[in-house]
Amino acid sequence: MSFTADRLLLFGATGDLAQRMLLPSLFALDADGLLASDLKIIGTARSDMSDSEYRNFARAALEKYLPADRRGRMAEFLNRLSYQTLDATTLEGYGALAEKVGTPQRGLAIFLSTAPSLFEPTIKGLQSAGLTGENVRMCLEKPLGTDLASSREINDAVAGAFPESRIFRIDHYLGKETVQNLLALRFANLMFEPLWNAAHIDHVQITVAETVGLEGRVAFYDDAGAIRDMVQNHMLQLLALVAMEPPAHFDATAVRDEKVKVLRALRGVAANETVTGQYRAGAIQGQAVPGYDEELGKDSGTETFVAIKAHVDNWRWKGVPFYLRTGKRMPKRVTEIVIQFRCVPHSIFAGKGATMQPNRLVIGIQPEENITLSLMAKVPGLDREGIRLRQVPLNIAMPDAFSGAVRRIAYERLLLDLVEGDQTLFVRRDEVEAQWDWVDAIRAGWEADGLTPRTYTAGSWGPSAAIALAERDGVTWHE
Ligand code: BG6
Repeated sequence: MSFTADRLLLFGATGDLAQRMLLPSLFALDADGLLASDLKIIGTARSDMSDSEYRNFARAALEKYLPADRRGRMAEFLNRLSYQTLDATTLEGYGALAEKVGTPQRGLAIFLSTAPSLFEPTIKGLQSAGLTGENVRMCLEKPLGTDLASSREINDAVAGAFPESRIFRIDHYLGKETVQNLLALRFANLMFEPLWNAAHIDHVQITVAETVGLEGRVAFYDDAGAIRDMVQNHMLQLLALVAMEPPAHFDATAVRDEKVKVLRALRGVAANETVTGQYRAGAIQGQAVPGYDEELGKDSGTETFVAIKAHVDNWRWKGVPFYLRTGKRMPKRVTEIVIQFRCVPHSIFAGKGATMQPNRLVIGIQPEENITLSLMAKVPGLDREGIRLRQVPLNIAMPDAFSGAVRRIAYERLLLDLVEGDQTLFVRRDEVEAQWDWVDAIRAGWEADGLTPRTYTAGSWGPSAAIALAERDGVTWHE
């Protein structure tokens, strides 16, 4: 059912995500006049707070986390907010919560940003209070389980109260402007698509490198590790967008249908096609940082780095490796996709001494939003000693190309889509399950082989075995 919600109910309203992302995003949307004037935002969490205390809490979060150039008058936004204390695990409080929500004129959007263990009791509570009707949609924040079985359990619990058409699963990478631009690059330009296949692409690299370490998320991260925290969701979504067939329309069904086909075509990964690592003390940009075990305060078998050589077993991608790597405490923060094209079939310059390098497209997702296509060009000169060719970049810096445009954070887009009911950038159940299926098999392989992470120094690009993983195919990671 299509409606623009006039009530937004935030579970986990005092949590880290609410403070850092959700409240600032909602404020920014409001400041730009993008929220319906009658939208009311109700926060709920365990802490005991009155409406005015929550408004003060929200004001403090906005002052802390909003970029200076996006701050403005807060009073009107804060007036939209109210708060209801709730112990989500018992049914008792949900009646009062429903009263606080009131009767929406058009509909209610619920955002669950809580521990997954609270999902089931919360759904039951919402059902008991009549908050799961036809004009209610449900948005879920990761982690959605720790493996296929637990993810199914969560999905079943949610499906007991909401049809898939009203379930919005967040993968915040899909809200990033540059990730959406991947679709524009592929499908709004003629020149790439005819080359976008195994006949012309040698391999693909996807890197998501972070400089941060545990960031205080000790318990969560040590249970998850890099493959479940980053690969299962964000990296596989990036891979799916790179590898999918052109959808017929930019809408929720067409786009997700194509992505899920890719995810289901992922080949099982052999033992020698993955490398895991865990950082030890080192330095990042001149700053000494402790090792993972020191931050954690104990030894651990959890990987903070993983590299995988993946394959999409379908006609388009037969034989094209997708090298994925992600890690904490890398030398720099960078998310990028590298499309390495094949060499030209025949070099007419070979007899003149020129060496050729294949074209490469580098799509910078963050922090630099650049698209760079490296092309071969002739070095100027009279060529008496032979022709010299060199790679030169064709460079598009997206912020320069769109200098007047507001750069929005992912949650602004996703929250607005949730309120308005557009599922295109949310992950469908079959996608999540295909992702888990693939990741579970890799993890089972690690367990069967008794694989433990190799160590790497913080500030390096992971264990040397990760470099070898690509190099034995004659591939160098792009840095
Ligand atoms: C989250 C992970 O999903 O994504 C974090 O749980 C990670 O560990 C974060 O740091 C990265 O997001 P971004 O937008 O900073 O690349």
